[in-house]
Amino acid sequence: MNIISGQNVIAIIRKTLSILNPNIMKHSEIVGYIFYKMLEYEQEYSEQEMLEYTWIAILHDIGLYRVDGLDNVADFEVNNTESHSIYGFLFLKYLSPLAEKAEIVLYHHLDYERYGLVKNKYERITECLAFADKMDTFMRRDKIQMEADYFTRYVDIKFSARARNLFLEAEKKFGITAKLVSGEYREELNELFSHIEMSEMDKKSFLGMLVYTIDFRSEYTVIHTMATVNFAQQLGVLMNLGAAELRQLYYGALLHDLGKIAIPINILESPGKLSAEEMRIMKAHVRITEMILSGLVAPEVIDIAARHHEKLDGSGYHNGLSDKDLTLPQKIVAVADMLSALYGQRSYKKSFESNIIKTILSEEAADYKISKPVVDCLLENYDNIIRGFEDEQEGHTIGLYLTIKEQYEEIWKKFEGIMR
Ligand SMILES: [Fe+2]
Ligand SMILES: [Fe+2]
Ligand SMILES: [Fe+2]
Repeated sequence: MNIISGQNVIAIIRKTLSILNPNIMKHSEIVGYIFYKMLEYEQEYSEQEMLEYTWIAILHDIGLYRVDGLDNVADFEVNNTESHSIYGFLFLKYLSPLAEKAEIVLYHHLDYERYGLVKNKYERITECLAFADKMDTFMRRDKIQMEADYFTRYVDIKFSARARNLFLEAEKKFGITAKLVSGEYREELNELFSHIEMSEMDKKSFLGMLVYTIDFRSEYTVIHTMATVNFAQQLGVLMNLGAAELRQLYYGALLHDLGKIAIPINILESPGKLSAEEMRIMKAHVRITEMILSGLVAPEVIDIAARHHEKLDGSGYHNGLSDKDLTLPQKIVAVADMLSALYGQRSYKKSFESNIIKTILSEEAADYKISKPVVDCLLENYDNIIRGFEDEQEGHTIGLYLTIKEQYEEIWKKFEGIMR
């Protein structure tokens, strides 16, 4: 059975990011639509190419989601363009299957008259995206400084005449703005994305990028999800799960904390014990995960993701299920999640020695909170499992996190002379 379609990978990303920040997502979809119609008018691209470019256009501001509580997208789009262009570029380059085309995002705020200063293989595409971006920003211009005659005054300075003319032609032919007003553009985008083809690797990669975008908000959680996936996979193999169950386990672990997007950073990163009210908010993440995934992935995956805080004795949340209701993959993710949380402390906070981690997990199993067979398997293979994760994380997770931070500084320096 198919766990998730490419179309639904895109749906999950759009849904999640729009919960994280509805303003940015709305802007991104409008830009994506304008851009798509411009390409369609040109008739130079295959459907697959248009799909890919439009998907990039919808992700063009992905570097903005790092900023918590961003209300006025337009303002940020005009006054703070470099940092989110660079972050967006790095996310696509290092975390997505779109690496090769990531420059489109890097240069989406570069003034047209400066295109000569950089090498960009996708100049024509970037021109269109930059124009579409300005169009939507202009339509919201009540809040920002973009002159009423912007589109006549800055031809071939801030944007290209070619892109503007293309837009005007496409507007005449397709009635773009009318569809933006009526909301029809959303169905058209959905229809476009229903044709996307994605390999298994691409699906995992895109969803991984989503998790990164979320985890990037909080340094403390940046490795949590990836560690949970890794621990769960290793335990699943050791406990002889079949191929289908291992795939369900992978996606379930990968998506288990998506709902945390709705939890404020100060609660996520709270150094002390959470108050009752904070705990109530924190617990909601499971329901939100379930809500996001519902209808978009196989039910087995939803249950693995949404049951990671259930306890065998019925004391967990959010449904108070007990041992007999829970499957082995669900129990494995609960243990992997706890191990990841305990182990993660080591990287970021005070170190938790492995014997303390082992003791805590054994006690939880003895108290009939988490599965004893799973914990026994973990304890028997503890050093191997930790090493397995450490080996993988060299190139991934923390390694990538550091690379992105480093590269950011480097590109920022280069940008200083070019962007302003
Ligand atoms: Fe932007
Ligand atoms: Fe934008
Ligand atoms: Fe959780």
